[in-house]
Amino acid sequence: MSRVTLVEVGPRDGLQNQPQFVATPDKIKLIDALSASGLTQIEVASFVSPKWVPQMADAAAVCAGIARDPAVKYSALTPNLRGFEAANEAGVDSVAVFASASEGFSQKNINCSIKESLERFFPIFDHSNVPIRGYVSCVVECPYDGLIAPDAVAEVTMHLLDMGCYEVSLGDTIGRATPQQVDRLLTCILAQIPAGKLAGHFHDTHGQALDNIDVALAAGIRVFDAAVGGLGGCPFAPGAAGNVATETVLAHLQDCGFDTGVDADALEQAAAIALEVKG
Ligand code: HMG
Ligand code: MG
Repeated sequence: MSRVTLVEVGPRDGLQNQPQFVATPDKIKLIDALSASGLTQIEVASFVSPKWVPQMADAAAVCAGIARDPAVKYSALTPNLRGFEAANEAGVDSVAVFASASEGFSQKNINCSIKESLERFFPIFDHSNVPIRGYVSCVVECPYDGLIAPDAVAEVTMHLLDMGCYEVSLGDTIGRATPQQVDRLLTCILAQIPAGKLAGHFHDTHGQALDNIDVALAAGIRVFDAAVGGLGGCPFAPGAAGNVATETVLAHLQDCGFDTGVDADALEQAAAIALEVKG
């Protein structure tokens, strides 16, 4: 049976956009439930400015409070060296840097150009002794700049891999991509980058995330980000809905005969907690 890895991003991508602050013990309860489901990668927090994303202000406390399962890799988003140092101190197993394929989103999200963002990541690669994942946002469309050329996505992805990312997750940040657009994007990128270096990160604003995952599966991609309970959105991408729900992706992958190692019942319990803590 072919293996697919699910990267759970609900505690970070999902919760970062919740209008009401989710109490630290509730975040911990959610992550502990996810740890018990057979997931092997959970993005638990982001070490960003609390003025920009107040919901993630307790990242260190969350990392300190969760019950670590040795079978799970716990990761956090880090925009700069300062965030990396805090994440490292919190003992995460990996960190993620995040760039954009569009200038408009880069400015709104991290207050700098794409080039400047890559320069800010260099010190993280210099200092890190944990694996570094990369994200590229707005791989098909940007809420500020409109449609994005596949070549622009390939260029930023290549930069992140050249800098040392072990994998780059391609983000349909606003969930507007169609399967045809994803197919064109992957045809361009896979001419330059092996599928084993890529992951899919589909928000589900227009209900096309599963179809887009099917396109990516057909292209050979075997790692997908998802958020339990379909939690989320991005504070800097107005109108964007959450990532595709992990439990929905799991059911689909099981139907298609893929093995993920995730237990559906345990994941449903985590999904119930996600809905409860979200308020
Ligand atoms: P800035 O204002 O350009 O930078 O922010 P700065 O260096 O001038 O710092 C401003 C303030 O933030 C200062 O505090 C710094 O000390 C502080 P002040 O002097 O005003 O009191 N600061 C920090 N505080 C905590 N941790 C840090 C840190 N760095 C600076 N690491 C910055 C630049 C990147 C920090 C800011 O723009 C920021 O935090 N943005 C938030 C970005 C974010 O979290 N976006 C959502 C996640 S990305 C996403 O969801 C997309 C993804 O899911 C993929 C997809 O769907 O496409 C990954
Ligand atoms: Mg996202």
